[in-house]
Order: sequence, then structure tokens, then C-alpha cells
Amino acid sequence: MQEHLDIQTNQSQHGNALLGEARQGEVLELQGQSPEGASVENGKKFYIESYGCQMNFSDSEIVASILYDNGFRLTKDYMEADVVLLNTCSIREKAEDRIRKRLKELNVIKENKQDALIGILGCMAERLKDKLLQQEKLVDIVCGPDAYRDLPKLVGEAESGQKAVNVFLSKEETYAEINPVRLDNSGVTAFISIMRGCDNMCSFCVVPFTRGRERSRNAYSIVAEAQDLFDRGYKEVTLLGQNVDSYKWTNPETEEVCNFANLLEMTAQVHPDLRVRFSTSHPKDITDEVLYTMAKYENICNYIHLPVQSGNSRVLKLMNRTYDREWYIDRVEAIRRIIPDCAISTDVIAGFCSETEEEHQETLSMMEYVKYQMAYMFFYSERPGTLAARKYEDDIPLETKKRRLREIIDLQMQHSLAHNKADIGKTFKVLVEKESKRSKDDLCGRNDQNKMIIFPRENAQAAQYVMVKVSDCTSASLKGEIVEYL
Ligand code: SAH
Ligand code: SF4
Ligand code: F3S
Repeated sequence: MQEHLDIQTNQSQHGNALLGEARQGEVLELQGQSPEGASVENGKKFYIESYGCQMNFSDSEIVASILYDNGFRLTKDYMEADVVLLNTCSIREKAEDRIRKRLKELNVIKENKQDALIGILGCMAERLKDKLLQQEKLVDIVCGPDAYRDLPKLVGEAESGQKAVNVFLSKEETYAEINPVRLDNSGVTAFISIMRGCDNMCSFCVVPFTRGRERSRNAYSIVAEAQDLFDRGYKEVTLLGQNVDSYKWTNPETEEVCNFANLLEMTAQVHPDLRVRFSTSHPKDITDEVLYTMAKYENICNYIHLPVQSGNSRVLKLMNRTYDREWYIDRVEAIRRIIPDCAISTDVIAGFCSETEEEHQETLSMMEYVKYQMAYMFFYSERPGTLAARKYEDDIPLETKKRRLREIIDLQMQHSLAHNKADIGKTFKVLVEKESKRSKDDLCGRNDQNKMIIFPRENAQAAQYVMVKVSDCTSASLKGEIVEYL
């Protein structure tokens, strides 16, 4: 799962499916929707913006559902909102800086409407807890990722003039039965959270502290959500978790264990026209069983986001990733053997503590070996409280981190372009998503490998499958023409 990216190539390829950089970078504004069975209105309006990874965007849909059920209604204009919520990210320092800057901008809300409330949700709420109230005077509510059911009560407390905080982390909460209010009105693709938290403790990462222990959601509630989406016309679901390969749900009645491969299969069986994607795969946990399941079902997309972080085994050990270079290469070979046309993308961190020039070169050589279709690339940002912050010195000068990152990005740009050029002349099955940003006359959608393809609209419509022949490309996207309607 990624936060909005510091630097990234191939923007549009990642798209909504994989954390939708478009959504991540952008403010998500909720359109006023009335989900079925919503409770009687209480006359109060809320506004929400989401930052960070897909998980956060998905959580905002749960928050919206909880607030709807308690009588609140959405507004896309924060000036008219009674409650303004920011669902925040802590993954890198920059992510938090961005929220603080946004809070300053939101000062106008209280100037306009004195009793409007401002709430911080998500990872920054969890990391900073009530310190956030002292640091940011504007904030009235602090609510961590496992406390969203309590949000209506917290709003009530804040209305009575108290500062309201709930950052309790749960070992059980999965919001399994909450039917998310879909905030992205596309009606074509949707996210489904299949698990929460993370037990991995990668030394650089704040997520285990902000999201708590890993827990898997009831498999039947996941499949029911996918079925419901399909019945409402959606054609693609992305199963979300920090480490989907460690998904494990035990049916309390039969004691049967459902692993990720089983869940993928169950979701793929909802309907052959429902595409299934997932993110994120952890190199240490991705099994051949998952790969064989992907190969077995045409509707499970041939695309794996497999964050490498570093190509050097010593750095990987310091990062506590629990795999080494050889293990990672073995997994890439397994993917190539079992799913020959599978696209692979990754995350890379440049300039982790004590990384030498030679070790950085090994990251570049790993990239040369895999030739990733797309990558999210960052330089290391120390996060307070993490293992790395406590144990290692953040000793790589900023200029060196930036230079290494630049080398990584330049190489990735070459690889992305080469991947796209190799697709010219090929024909792909594309799920039409939406109008292209650049022209009203064009539509865009993704192929199986998650590449965004732009093509003239002709008679196609969103949520339809078409065959598109590719005629041109940039490093970010493919261009083509519809050759067949499916
Ligand atoms: N669960 C996913 C990653 C979640 S965070 C996984 O294990 O792959 C998304 C990405 O942010 C990470 O893959 C990593 O590349 C980056 N990241 C996390 N912490 C970071 C830090 N402290 N500095 C720089 N990048 C970081
Ligand atoms: Fe962070 Fe590692 Fe968990 Fe990913 S697997 S969320 S990088 S601790
Ligand atoms: Fe996601 Fe950022 Fe939290 S990446 S899990 S929102 S720290």
C-alpha cells in the first residue's frame, strides 16, 4: 500500500487499482450519496479528505457508512460542513507535513463557521494521539483506524466543547459487516479491505504502530461484498491488505482455514466478468499456490505488486524484511514460470541507514534483472519509534539519498518506456473505466497487466470490456483503438 508518492514514474499505470495514485495524490471529495437503509437525517453534514494508501481510501468509505447510519450526510464543500475529517497518513515525514499544511488552510472553516469541528482520522491520529491536540489547536477530534465506530460519539463529545480522542487499537476489529459507501462514483472498480494491521515490523515502517496487529476479515463477508458490487454493475475489485499473502481466516463453525489463495479463488468465482486484483504482496509470503490460482482464473489479473525495497541482502536484513536477494529472485522466477505474462511492479527505498554505494548498485542491478513495469520510489525518511529509528543512525546525507533516488527513477523510466514500446502492435482486453483526463473524446481503461490505455470513445461505455489495439505510447500510458466490442 502506498502513500501519495514522493516521486513516481508511470503515474497512470498504477491508477485506481493499485492505490490509485490519482486518488492518493488528490483530495477525495465525497459526493452526496444516499445508501439504502440510511438512518433518519440528523441535519449535520460531514466532509472528508483522504490521504495515504488505498487502505485509507477504503477506510473513508467505512467512516462514511458509519456516519450515514448515524444520520450525517456528505457534502463536498467543506465550508458548509459541520464536521470536517482528514483521514491521514504517517508513512513518511512529508506525508505528515502535508496534513499540517492542509490544517492551516482549513483555518478558514472556523473563521466562517465557529462551531464547525475538525477531526483527524487514520495513521497520524494513531501515531500522535492526544499530542496532536496540543500541536494543532484547530483539531477537535482524534480518531484512530480501529475506532471509527465510535466516531459519532466523539463528534457528540466535541460538540459539547470537549476535545474527543479514541485511538484504541483492536485485535479483532475488521468492520466486516459494514457496507462501505462508495465514494468514488465511477461504478466500475472498487476496493475491498480483506485484512487490517501488519505484524511484520519492517524496521523503517510506521504501519505496525499506526494500524496495530494483523487480523483477517471473514471470507464470506468479503465474497458477499464482491458479489454485491458485481450485482450493482461493478466489474473490478481490488482486495486490500498490507500483506495479502498472510491472509488467514478460520471459520469458527467448521474450523476450516481460508488462506489467500482460497480467498482469491472464491472471489474469482463470483463471476468471470468480475476482475480481481490485489495489493500488496510480500515477497516472503507469496506462495506458488497463489500464483497457480492466478494462472487458473482468467479474471484474476496478471499483475503483482511485489515491493523489493532494496536489492542488497545486508540492507534487507537491516530493514527486517526477512528475505534476501536470492529469495526475492526465486519468487520472481516462480512468477515468470507459473504466469509468463504477469507484470511486476515494486517499491524501492533509496539511502536506508548505512547503505553503501555498492549496495545501492545492487538495487539498480535488481531493477535491471526484474525490469519492473512500474515502481514507487522513495528516499528513506526516518519515522520516530520505529526499529530503525531506535537502532540505526540515519546517516546517508540527503543529497546522496536524492542522487540515488534519481538514479533509481531514471532507470525505472527507461524500463517503463521499454515495457510500453514492446506493447505497440498488441491487442488487449480492456475494462473501460472513465473519460480520459486529456480529452472528452477519449476513454481510458486498464489491461490485465494494469497498464492504462487511452483510446477514442467511439461507442464504448464505462464498465464495458473492449479489445484495444495499441498504436503508440509514452512511459506512462498506452494509446490505441478499439478493434472489438465484447
Ligand atoms: N505493506 C507494504 C508497504 C506499505 S508502505 C509492503 O510491505 O510492501 C508503502 C511503501 O512506502 C513501502 O513499500 C516502502 O517502500 C515505503 N516506505 C515505508 N516506510 C518508509 C520510510 N520510513 N521511508 C521511506 N519510504 C518508506
Ligand atoms: Fe510496513 Fe513491512 Fe508491514 Fe509493509 S509489511 S506495512 S512495509 S511493516
Ligand atoms: Fe497507509 Fe499511510 Fe497509514 S501508507 S497504513 S495511510 S501510514
